[in-house]
Amino acid sequence: MKIIFVAHDGTRTEVEASEGESVMQAAVQNGVDGVIGECGGSMMCATCHCYVDEDWIGKTGRRGEGEADMLECAASEVKATSRLSCQIEMSADLDGLVVHLPEAQI
Ligand code: FES
Repeated sequence: MKIIFVAHDGTRTEVEASEGESVMQAAVQNGVDGVIGECGGSMMCATCHCYVDEDWIGKTGRRGEGEADMLECAASEVKATSRLSCQIEMSADLDGLVVHLPEAQI
């Protein structure tokens, strides 16, 4: 399944992800600029901040409580669509997911 990352400058990068993998893992494994994932997905860093495309927010769901707390440490503006990409798990439903990346992660 695919994930499309849209960088702050508008550059689109399409990567292949597997079921059960997080959006952060797919980004890091494919060398997508703009996602760091420093803590490896344990919700301790906020360097995997992303903005879920409006068209997809109904499918990814909104952030959980712990995730919202960690997002307060994000380097870039937190918007209604902000998520930690390590907390979005890929499934067939999310094939073609579009996420936008913030200007900075640190
Ligand atoms: S990778 Fe650290 S919070 Fe997502």
